[in-house]
Amino acid sequence: MPENTWWKRGIVYQIYPRSFQDSNGDGIGDLEGIRQRLDYLVWLGVDAIWISPIYNSPMADFGYDVADYCGIDPIFGALEDFDRLIGEAHARGLKLILDFVPNHTSDQHPWFRESRSSRTSPKRDWYIWRNPGPDGGPPNNWISNFGGSAWEWDEATGQYYYHAFLKEQPDLNWRNAEVRKAMYDTLRFWLDRGVDGFRVDVIWHLIKDAEFRDNPPNLAYQPSQAEINRFLQVYSADQPEVHEVVSEMRAVLDEYPHRVLIGEIYLPLERLVAYYGPDLAGAHLPFNFQLVHTAWNAREIGTLIKEYETALPEGGWPNWVLGNHDQPRIGARVGPRQARVAAMLLLTLRGTPTMYYGDEIGIGKVEIPPEAVQDPWEKNEPGLGLGRDPERTPMHWDGSDQGGFTSGNPWLPLDPSFPTCHVEGLRNDPSSLLTLYRHLIELRRQHLALSVGRYAPVAAERDIIAYERWHGTERLLVALNLGHEPRTLSLPHRTMGRVLLSTSLDRREEPVGAQIDLRPDEGLIVALGT
Ligand code: NOJ
Repeated sequence: MPENTWWKRGIVYQIYPRSFQDSNGDGIGDLEGIRQRLDYLVWLGVDAIWISPIYNSPMADFGYDVADYCGIDPIFGALEDFDRLIGEAHARGLKLILDFVPNHTSDQHPWFRESRSSRTSPKRDWYIWRNPGPDGGPPNNWISNFGGSAWEWDEATGQYYYHAFLKEQPDLNWRNAEVRKAMYDTLRFWLDRGVDGFRVDVIWHLIKDAEFRDNPPNLAYQPSQAEINRFLQVYSADQPEVHEVVSEMRAVLDEYPHRVLIGEIYLPLERLVAYYGPDLAGAHLPFNFQLVHTAWNAREIGTLIKEYETALPEGGWPNWVLGNHDQPRIGARVGPRQARVAAMLLLTLRGTPTMYYGDEIGIGKVEIPPEAVQDPWEKNEPGLGLGRDPERTPMHWDGSDQGGFTSGNPWLPLDPSFPTCHVEGLRNDPSSLLTLYRHLIELRRQHLALSVGRYAPVAAERDIIAYERWHGTERLLVALNLGHEPRTLSLPHRTMGRVLLSTSLDRREEPVGAQIDLRPDEGLIVALGT
């Protein structure tokens, strides 16, 4: 895998399509809306867009319940809109990555309707059907990720079916060869249309324990947590046989040149990196969510970077994520000043960064009034703060009504900051977060040290994280102050350099020596030896 592979050098930008741009006034974003905003993404400088599911769906889980893998839901448009979008994206040099949701379908998918029609249906085994347990209840103790038993009783055929998420999302049986073939064909359908890769939903869930053994209790469980945490997910996910499926998916992508396979995986480090597969024949990029879950302090982040770099298999390419449509936004977690430092961290670490739409304009913590709640997880397990609506609110484009997102009623309320915090205003403000993102992306493009260069830690203590990136003769130092007090970083005697970029956007070309003074909440990129 040469270092100019696009998905190694490039930056991925995630679009949650319901919330990016509405073009027809129904209050929900669509493909034509994304097409209208392609020039913004080119201006920003990203290389690829990943679009969360746009397939036909009853929207019980907002598209993660797919009723037709080869169709576009009318909410988002039609296949012609998709073809136009991908054509225009490619014409601008942008790659397009689709979300692939193989673990479960919608209960409205024709496959499931057929499967539940009778015990002798030819598709019965395409899903996971079990007789009741000895007490007449569910077959085992597995819990749905959205709360409650993961088993749903089907009165008509007298068996339970398994659903790791909503009961409207029955799990496919990936031990069935016909299921695999049908799903690989859906990948080819989109690859033939030109998509550049897939982000695979809950890829570590695909295979379950063959004997459906009970999960062991989690002794650390607190009732303030989601119910899924009552048990350790020992048998319900991450089974050894899953790696065979991942490499088969990868083989399908490898039938086409230059495609990327990204896996959504929430697992501890040593199990996460197994998804690169033996001989790196698994996922190109098993998503690394560590920055999403860590405490925002220098020592912890320093340690996790080190552990991740050490755990990577030889030749495995790293990647970093600050947020997505399932996680509180970075701006909400660390506040507006540290959001700038976080941007510099994301875009200067070794590995492919994935940005989340709206983070670049600093959308923060959005309160969703109870009557506006949409997320089924929040509805199933209310009051625990699990709801994902706050990170899914519409993008702010300009100062008009509803931030230019829609001419109708938005499906979720906008962050109240929208009248003053929007793309049109921020792109002309030399000190804005959006301007900082754009400069960071530009710098990353100009300096191979930042994208494909090597990495070496320099410091991780007393609020400071510092590391070097180098490529050929170029050496860059990144120094980040994760605290709200001024800090000094001491480097070896005779160090010399000049500032390439500061998060405060005003120290360019400033010479630096062996003592680097960082302002509160400031990050610097320094060219060393000049
Ligand atoms: C992970 C997706 O990111 C999330 O939004 C969804 O609810 C579950 N998988 C189920 O598909």
